[in-house]
Amino acid sequence: MTVSSFPRTVEWVGGIDGFVRMIDQTRLPHELVMLECRDTKAVWEAIKRLSVRGAPAIGIAGAMGAALGILNHAASDRASLLEELDRVCDYLVGSRPTAVNLAWALERMKACARNSHEAEVSRLKESLLAEAIRIRDEDAEMCRAIGQFGEPLITEGCRVLTHCNAGSLATAEFGTALAPFYVAHQRGRRFKVYADETRPLLQGARLTAWELQQAGIDVTVLCDNMAGALMQNGGVDLVITGADRIAANGDVANKIGTYSVAVIAQAHRIPFYVAAPSSTFDLSLPDGSGIPIEHRDADEVRSCLGHPIAPAGVECYCPAFDVTPARLIRGIITERGVISPLGTEVIARLLGEKSST
Ligand code: MRU
Repeated sequence: MTVSSFPRTVEWVGGIDGFVRMIDQTRLPHELVMLECRDTKAVWEAIKRLSVRGAPAIGIAGAMGAALGILNHAASDRASLLEELDRVCDYLVGSRPTAVNLAWALERMKACARNSHEAEVSRLKESLLAEAIRIRDEDAEMCRAIGQFGEPLITEGCRVLTHCNAGSLATAEFGTALAPFYVAHQRGRRFKVYADETRPLLQGARLTAWELQQAGIDVTVLCDNMAGALMQNGGVDLVITGADRIAANGDVANKIGTYSVAVIAQAHRIPFYVAAPSSTFDLSLPDGSGIPIEHRDADEVRSCLGHPIAPAGVECYCPAFDVTPARLIRGIITERGVISPLGTEVIARLLGEKSST
């Protein structure tokens, strides 16, 4: 299977009476099962339990969930439709707090409705559905551009470590951190990927290993606590991860454990890159200290794949994300180019178009 022949991570099926279909990522790697969501609540629940996960993918799912809410609502006039859209977006944005792509996509849906002068409710509904589909299609384009900009980093024979899953499954298609791998692979380059398993929910072992293996890319899984030894033994040339939210100065929130990887990489002088589209930047935050960090249910740490592994009732520490300071990051690969070295001004300049909208 090539990455282009994977089923779509999240998509809209049908027209205005359609629904959202997504890969149920809780079932991978053992089963490839599609999940159908026909109302906003089903989308909220899918995001919450990580059936769909990864910053860009939850943005797309959120936008489609908002479209579902509006299409299912019997609004008789523009004002009540806009009111319902605000309500639905407020509900969806509460499903997961860290990835800014969700809030970004929902804001886009609201702006689409507000900026449309369409008075007729049915036309307004159609344009909201079109906007949600556009958010998906644009994400696919951004990921392909990230792949092109990141590909030169994947030199012949290099060994790259990644954490969590920032691949096709986390985006419309192709991924962010994994996009350079797909482009390099298409160009016949040989290289090796190390995928941290990524406790507690094992996105690296279950998802990154699955999608790279499907695509025929050389991938090796390691437990999170093995990355240091691998680097110490000279086994890693480069690290690339994704991001859930990037502050104006380049501090990056990503899956818990990313910070530890960045610290170890710096200790061994291994370049650490982040790959993310412009929709993952939050220029309203001067640095990473203001990024809201999701804490998840203690049972996700107390057990592994549903099996208890710690004493019942024991206290657990369970942040889902951490913040890697910009000083540990060599560069950020975006759809507009690679930002390196990082700094508030250079980021604002590259994303100027976005920050002024
Ligand atoms: O909890 P998850 O699986 O949604 O966390 C995902 C990550 O941390 C990814 O690295 C990030 O969202 C980037 S996805 C392109």
